[in-house]
Amino acid sequence: MRIDIITALPALLHSPFNDSILKRAIQNGLVEVHIHDLREYGLGKHRQIDDYQFGGGAGMVMMVEPIFNCIEQLRQEREYDEIIYMTPDGDRFEQRTANRLSLKENLMLLCGHYKGIDQRIRDHLITMEISIGDYVLSGGELAAAVVSDAIIRLLPGVLNDESSALTDSFQDDLLAPPVYTRPADFKGWKVPEILTGGNFPKIEEWRHEMAIKRTRERRPDLLED
Ligand code: ADE
Repeated sequence: MRIDIITALPALLHSPFNDSILKRAIQNGLVEVHIHDLREYGLGKHRQIDDYQFGGGAGMVMMVEPIFNCIEQLRQEREYDEIIYMTPDGDRFEQRTANRLSLKENLMLLCGHYKGIDQRIRDHLITMEISIGDYVLSGGELAAAVVSDAIIRLLPGVLNDESSALTDSFQDDLLAPPVYTRPADFKGWKVPEILTGGNFPKIEEWRHEMAIKRTRERRPDLLED
């Protein structure tokens, strides 16, 4: 898989891909992540990328031309399965979206800033709009990092334990059960006995029950689906 991220603030995206699981996935050639500085496509001496909005009103709007030129450049090099705009008014990002996107070959993510981007980009070039939740971030970069992380960890070979991604919260519309590690007794706080008994079918049964209990208590809406 290849992910291209277009941003006016490339520095914001460096650290998420330079540590831990994502870094290893890139080093192992399981995914390519390319960050593109929109400023390089800016207009004129000042490499302008934003302007006042038509009709007046506070806040700058990201201009159509630099974004168009950057997207077109990339589209000439390869075909994209989705060109995704990160925006609080997009479709809510969920595990099933991550699952679906993890099967794609080439993804492009566009990060917005200021008041947003010129609507014509959304009308003519964007194929999908994603929000990571009902709150407004300063820009789409952190959202793009969240979406990329959720997708990349699903790619075969990225997680050490192959079954691990499948037992995540949300994968079966249930939250994950509680987990414990040594010591079995810490100052009298004991690990549930069932987990130390070695009866693995019983342990699986207990985990499933706990997952349902936790989901019922915290996210009953998931059980309604
Ligand atoms: N850009 C600003 N806020 C956002 C959000 N909640 N989701 C995705 N992109 C955003």
